Amino acid sequence: MDFKIEIAGLLAAATELDAQEVAGAIEIPDPAMGDFAFPCFKLAKTLKKAPGVIATEIASSLELPAFLQSVEASGPYLNFFVNRGFYAQSILPKIYAEGSNFGKSEIGKGGTVVIDYSSPNMAKRFHIGHLRSTVFGHALYNIFNFLGYKSFSINYLGDWGTQFGKIITAYEHWGNKNTVEAEGIEELERLYVKFHQEAGDKPELEDEARAWFLKMEQGDEYALELWRWFKEISMADHNKIYKLLDVKFDSFNGESYYNDKMQPVVDELKSKGVAVEDKGAWIVDLEDHKMPNCLILRSDGATIYATRDITSVLHRKNEYNFVKALYVTSKEQILHFAQCFKVVELMGHDWASEQLVHVPFGYLTLPEGKMSSRKGNALLMEDVLKESVERIRKTIEEKNPNLPDKEDVAKQVGVGAIVFNDLYNSRIKDVEFSWERALSFEGETGPYVQYTHARCCSVLTKAELDFANADLTLLVADEELELIKTLNNFPTKVQEAGERYEPFIISRFVMSVAQAFNKFYHDNPILKADAELQKARLHLTHCTKTVIATALGILGIKAPQEM
Ligand code: ARG
Repeated sequence: MDFKIEIAGLLAAATELDAQEVAGAIEIPDPAMGDFAFPCFKLAKTLKKAPGVIATEIASSLELPAFLQSVEASGPYLNFFVNRGFYAQSILPKIYAEGSNFGKSEIGKGGTVVIDYSSPNMAKRFHIGHLRSTVFGHALYNIFNFLGYKSFSINYLGDWGTQFGKIITAYEHWGNKNTVEAEGIEELERLYVKFHQEAGDKPELEDEARAWFLKMEQGDEYALELWRWFKEISMADHNKIYKLLDVKFDSFNGESYYNDKMQPVVDELKSKGVAVEDKGAWIVDLEDHKMPNCLILRSDGATIYATRDITSVLHRKNEYNFVKALYVTSKEQILHFAQCFKVVELMGHDWASEQLVHVPFGYLTLPEGKMSSRKGNALLMEDVLKESVERIRKTIEEKNPNLPDKEDVAKQVGVGAIVFNDLYNSRIKDVEFSWERALSFEGETGPYVQYTHARCCSVLTKAELDFANADLTLLVADEELELIKTLNNFPTKVQEAGERYEPFIISRFVMSVAQAFNKFYHDNPILKADAELQKARLHLTHCTKTVIATALGILGIKAPQEM
């Protein structure tokens, strides 16, 4: 049962207010003040009495149903205290029975959400922006699935454009097969850097690069063979990260996939008069929409990043008939997506403004020193993740040297710590990374939440009683009530996370569960309580464990049983 709705019904009957309106006005006060509160200001107008007087009158006249313990007037507020045993009994069995399905909903039933995330660039190592995109995108993918949508993930690899003409040029001049084979993506990066160093003095290299890219576009077999080889090397490198994170994609259609799909879109833009010619180039004038023009075709006829993204939107709409298409990138691309989405809308697609969503995020800066790579900000994300695992391994070695599966657990906690740290703030906020803040077993960290989960598991393993059918009305302590209330918020929190495209709502939620559990655990003995109370507390512990594991799973984080 929903306590808020029940209380609203009660008040509506006593006051002739509309029940829904009352429900909307009910607040959750500080636990010492009550469990639910209703401000009487609204009634003052209709009843022509001071809110405080109204509160007192209602408090003394209300007949309390079994689910309420008491109601008190406090100034203009009516504070309701639930009957705690009743409350526990009405919330926990549902969590227990639904298990890992608790919190799921059907609101998205029948709708597809397409999410473009990670999307690194070929011939470049995975940098921190792509890690963030992967982590946010993957969490959103899980959130929408949990809400009943069908999520579809697309890794839109940056594998097309003039830069690949440059790499081929560099390879032809200074590269060789053996070095590329031996050093992979690092050598490709070096070749790209070398191209730019040399092209300063020899501008003819730029022409060569353009010619190579033109050959690629025209289907030249030799050029494409090199390109495919470079792509394979790049993807193998990216896959190492996906493996560590345990992230998979439904599609790897990158920029090159749209190469032969842009022409009809460009034609349509021209024929509809959305794009106009400007000094040999084709642009969409967005002045009326307070944005700079969107370039569609350069004066040499080449398409650009935006041309491909406008095409990607239309193609995805046809292919998946999505209710939402999300694009998860750093905030650097806010303008790019605003322009592309506006162009799609100007082509006559009314759904664009509601269904196309850019999901931007801020920067995560890493401390100087070991973690920033030799070449400025091209960070080796693989090294960061591995270092995290290594540090956690050391901590485990100190704290729990006899732990079985140490390797696996170190990996789950080390990677989970980085992911949790990334997802703990509102997306758009810039954050400074700190090893201490991310990896500590105490404080607001991934390891702390995972540790709490392991603690629940350990209590449950040690218990010798069957707690499936416990007398839950015994759960009346402050900490028990607080923990149950927190668990009960899960479904609302997932919905809110989906509505706002904000995984941190789930991270903060699972943190609040862990904190509430540890308070409960600290103040209320479980295994030493007498049998009936012990069973009830074990039941609560089991529900807590389940909810923590589910929430971490949505965030893309594992929940080890022991650590
Ligand atoms: N490859 C791009 C980058 O690294 C991100 C691509 C995002 N997705 C898209 N459809 N534009 O910046």
